[in-house]
Amino acid sequence: MDKLIVSGPTKLSGKVEVSSAKNASLPIMAATILYPGKVEFKNLPGLTDIKFFVQILESLGCTHSNGLIDASTVNNTVAEYDLVRKMRASVLVLGPLLSRFKKAKVSLPGGCAIGTRPVDIHLKAMEELGATIDISGGYINASCEKLIGADIHLSFPSVGATENIMMAACFAEGETVIKNAACEPEIVDHANFLNACGFEITGAGSSTIKVQGKELSSFDASKTVEYSIIGDRIEAATYIIAGLMTDSEIEVQNFDPSHIEAVLDVLKTMGAKLEVTARGVKVFASGKLAGAKVETGPHPGFPTDVQAQLMSLMGVSSGYSIVSERIFENRFMHVPELVRMGMEIDLDGSYAFIKGNNDLSPAPVMCTDLRASAALILSALVAKGETTIARIYHLDRGYEKIEQKLQSLGAKIKRVKE
Ligand code: UD1
Repeated sequence: MDKLIVSGPTKLSGKVEVSSAKNASLPIMAATILYPGKVEFKNLPGLTDIKFFVQILESLGCTHSNGLIDASTVNNTVAEYDLVRKMRASVLVLGPLLSRFKKAKVSLPGGCAIGTRPVDIHLKAMEELGATIDISGGYINASCEKLIGADIHLSFPSVGATENIMMAACFAEGETVIKNAACEPEIVDHANFLNACGFEITGAGSSTIKVQGKELSSFDASKTVEYSIIGDRIEAATYIIAGLMTDSEIEVQNFDPSHIEAVLDVLKTMGAKLEVTARGVKVFASGKLAGAKVETGPHPGFPTDVQAQLMSLMGVSSGYSIVSERIFENRFMHVPELVRMGMEIDLDGSYAFIKGNNDLSPAPVMCTDLRASAALILSALVAKGETTIARIYHLDRGYEKIEQKLQSLGAKIKRVKE
């Protein structure tokens, strides 16, 4: 297993380009199942999660080569446990399989490090569209004669459920209206992709999304759909925080800054000097920042996927900070590791109380989930000495070439084999 060794403290400088968004790529790859022809992606990120998803698509009969996915050859509607267990997002094949083939058998994804993460909202919506759902042997068995458009009100604006319903509704009869839909930028990208394929989705990015069902026979499968995925706003926020933690001047490019307005607002409140450009954000050396009180929430709220990284920054800012995690019940696994590096953080249920002004010192630490891993790297950049970060396979799920990108900014970071 690989480890990262980071020598701090360090100053960063220069420009860094973020990759395409993992959380947009995965649902869009699932959506290729709906299109009976070829789809060509110009910029799928080089991540292990993308490789897993390709394996799932291939197990269903799709072919893939260099970003070209062909779902005209799908001949299997069963997503096996051995593949699904590797990545929760695999449950996103349920909606498109059911919509196009009227049946799907998908392993229940199970919990993960950050929470139990049930799929009840996905399944209730499939039933509302007319599917019969049966859970047995750890599998979701879904079938229907046809799906019929419906008004679906989500009890929570789940990102994955919104995407699964949008896809299921694509070949349903008539109109589907999703109320209390998730508004994340990745949902907008998902709808843009489906529309590029010839589906008809309006309202994505607002809390009401409408999908007009189409006939499979109306698609011209000879046309190859070309699509470019949006820049990764979570990766961008991570590098912006790296610049601030190291009191450096850097530019983070290749994403839409309006996608992280809530993050930029919090950082500015803490005293960050930031300039929004057309393609990203310039970070200026801002000195020691002040503490803040932050609550995560569905978009346009503060993203839970940036909570761990922000906590690293709060640990070295002045004064107390409070973080309230409102999306996942167990998303403070980075805290014990940050404490090992010298942070003073108290946990009370979904609240974390962070005493600022911590002088971080290196320690052997361990990644527990994707964004927690990023938080450890950020802290290691400012700790005085050599920090060893183990279990970095978590990091490789969502950050393309992170050590190369940080090295290009001047960080002393290297990957070693155990
Ligand atoms: C997506 C993102 C993930 C991000 C999360 C919240 C992808 C591949 N992953 O995950 O990085 O952290 O959004 O922004 O895009 N819930 C239920 N029942 C359901 C569905 C969800 O109770 O049927 C709960 C979850 O347990 C969680 C909350 O709703 O507590 C949010 O989950 P959801 O928005 O669905 O997140 P994901 O789509 O899994």
